[in-house]
Amino acid sequence: MAKPVSIEVYNPSGKYRVVSTKSMPGTRWINLLVEQDCRVEICTQNKTILSVDDIIALIGDKCDGVIGQLTEDWGETLFSALSKAGGKAFSNMAVGYNNVDVNAANKYGVAVGNTPGVLTETTAELAASLSLAAARRIVEADEFMRAGLYEGWLPHLFVGNLLKGQTVGVIGAGRIGSAYARMMVEGFKMNLIYFDLYQSTRLEKFVTAYGEFLKANGEQPVTWKRAASMDEVLQQADLISLHPILDKTTYHLVNKERLSMMKKEAILINCSRGAVIDEVALVEHLKANPMFRVGLDVFEDEPFMKPGLADMKNAVVVPHIASASKWTREGMATLAALNVLGKIKGYPAWADPNRVEPFLNENAPPPAACPSIVNAKALSLPVSKL
Ligand SMILES: NC(=O)c1ccc[n+]([C@@H]2O[C@H](COP(=O)([O-])OP(=O)(O)OC[C@H]3O[C@@H](n4cnc5c(N)ncnc54)[C@H](O)[C@@H]3O)[C@@H](O)[C@H]2O)c1
Repeated sequence: MAKPVSIEVYNPSGKYRVVSTKSMPGTRWINLLVEQDCRVEICTQNKTILSVDDIIALIGDKCDGVIGQLTEDWGETLFSALSKAGGKAFSNMAVGYNNVDVNAANKYGVAVGNTPGVLTETTAELAASLSLAAARRIVEADEFMRAGLYEGWLPHLFVGNLLKGQTVGVIGAGRIGSAYARMMVEGFKMNLIYFDLYQSTRLEKFVTAYGEFLKANGEQPVTWKRAASMDEVLQQADLISLHPILDKTTYHLVNKERLSMMKKEAILINCSRGAVIDEVALVEHLKANPMFRVGLDVFEDEPFMKPGLADMKNAVVVPHIASASKWTREGMATLAALNVLGKIKGYPAWADPNRVEPFLNENAPPPAACPSIVNAKALSLPVSKL
């Protein structure tokens, strides 16, 4: 028997019971659910990561839908419990859903939502921040200053890398990878090399047009190249940022062998998922190559770092905060709530999850649709017109 967990309740007499496993930023998501006759229960248990048993206790005997987090293990056990309680909807408050067994959800007829689009720029901006922090050794310099070690300007003090004119490599040029590439190309006049399973025509057109603009102004134009393999990116780029989804094909994509292909003074950024890098191999590589630097937002065994990583001066590490801007986090909460609400109300799935702005407009009611359901096709859900 699962132990009860503490909750806070909005609209106790609501017809539909929706559970959120965490308190989420903003109030719009709560208001939208309450306005549509939902009783909203938010878990207030003082525990960062809920166990499967905790979530089973939250689901209880009758539950129409759950909003969950990427730290939770949404597999057979939870989808079976949700289905038994009459639930037909689950949404991750995240764009990545590698913590969700979508096949298990399909088996129980549960729609799985995610929150794309709303975190693209925020996540790309953190990747850009880590790129600059690593290139200009900002964290090391900050620690040095606070330790009272600064005795005056010196020619060799914290010399780092100039980005302008160097090559930025992007692995996974989807929404976030492309936004990051544009920031680095436009902001720092870097040349681009990218690898993705698909061609990113819009990104290529952007770099071409910006290159032409620079040329017309008498400046060195920027260039782009779509690499035939990931190894080509690793060998040629000075700064590499990882933005693929995490699945079987991208697990340990950057391993010992691939690290050894990279330039000795390269910078590697990861704001995707921790397991895209073999972190043990990375620690060894950082030890052997002091001029190689990394900026990491995500880790293989979160919340832990592999032994040795915390001691490395050439690593900048932050606790999975890439999507942590107020606008984005409130928007993620809204999209997750609307995914669950839409399925409860029998609304269709939104036709283009890359265009979710209408759901985020606070001055108008959201469209009668689920913003992003990843298994809409598998469940043969109807699709709305845009
Ligand atoms: N750190 C964070 O807080 C944070 C925030 C948002 C997203 N993310 C991660 O970023 C990922 C990407 O998000 P997105 O919105 O850009 O998704 P997206 O689907 O738009 O982009 C992913 C891209 O990866 C490419 N890809 C897939 N397999 C690949 C492979 N083997 N090699 C190269 N490219 C491959 C896809 O073709 C696609 O273009 C998410 O899945 C999530 O895991 C992390």
